[in-house]
Amino acid sequence: MRVLSGLQPTGRPHWGNYFGAIRQYIELQDEDESYYFIANLHALTTIRDREMLLNYSYEAVLDFLALGLDPNKAVLFIQSDVPEVSELCWLLMAITPKGLLERCVSYKDKEAKGIASDTGLFTYPVLQAADILAYDADVVPVGEDQTQHIEVCRDIAQRFNHLFGEVFVLPKAKVLEATAKVPGTDGEKMSKSYNNTIEIFDEPKPMKKRIMRIETDSRPMEDPKEPEGDHLYQLFSLFADDSAREEMAAMYRRGNFGYGEVKKALAEAAENYFAPARERRAEFAAKPETVKEILGDGAARARKKAGEVLLRAQKACGVK
Ligand code: ADP
Ligand code: TRP
Repeated sequence: MRVLSGLQPTGRPHWGNYFGAIRQYIELQDEDESYYFIANLHALTTIRDREMLLNYSYEAVLDFLALGLDPNKAVLFIQSDVPEVSELCWLLMAITPKGLLERCVSYKDKEAKGIASDTGLFTYPVLQAADILAYDADVVPVGEDQTQHIEVCRDIAQRFNHLFGEVFVLPKAKVLEATAKVPGTDGEKMSKSYNNTIEIFDEPKPMKKRIMRIETDSRPMEDPKEPEGDHLYQLFSLFADDSAREEMAAMYRRGNFGYGEVKKALAEAAENYFAPARERRAEFAAKPETVKEILGDGAARARKKAGEVLLRAQKACGVK
């Protein structure tokens, strides 16, 4: 099985990004072959600042490595280091019905928010399809919000295959339901756009400060409370093993506790959980040459595979 996924470099990752997406990606690196990349060409549809795009892309590589991506197992690279993908994108664009893209929710959402409706934003899913098809990926682990893009990718691949013969492998999305929606400090979905995030790589002190500010209800301390559905409990559960989780649930149901205690336990659990990743991140950050080598090696391996698939597609449709 060949696994592939991409991550947009849009800033410092938060708990929602990790539990909803990144963790699943990394868990799949033990499959036969896996490819992970930083989608800087996609980010160009929203980031219009050279230094920012370069920095975010590099930081995202450090994040991946720190969180356990092993370059000996997986191929890690930057999207734009594989020009074959952009070339394949045009071949796909030539046969993609406009209506297919007009139905995409992510595009419609951004347009509704008033984000400039550039062609790159509109054709974003075609580049994403090229990303996936260029590596003959079977499985694409993604957050729930990306499943429509994977469907579009399948539609495009099917259309190309129908017109020109069996060129592309049809990929499947893989979504981990259990952590599909990590709540933020206000109880709503954690998201950069809601300003309710807790970042993975915050130092312990600011992280604890964010945690202590998580909004809670004002029921009296003595009242027993139902843990399921409580966002503070949900956050604690992300880090706790079964016994710690059960103990916490029992405390909720007994009552006579303060949310402050829960927050302290959460801060401690989160700190223990992310401390090794924070250390690894600092180690990689101190060795830019090593990171450069990893990316160079990743790009070379990715180009080899993408080159084969591109040639197959070019021959099939008659441009070679
Ligand atoms: P944000 O909403 O903060 O801008 P992104 O849209 O960049 O986050 O999300 C990147 C990935 O992380 C997506 O695949 C998305 O599904 C996942 N993700 C983001 N927020 C959450 C969340 N609160 N719970 C679960 N997954 C999330
Ligand atoms: N659109 C994805 C996101 O915002 C990132 C991405 C780009 C991607 N190309 C991909 C994900 C290919 C999976 C496969 O999260």
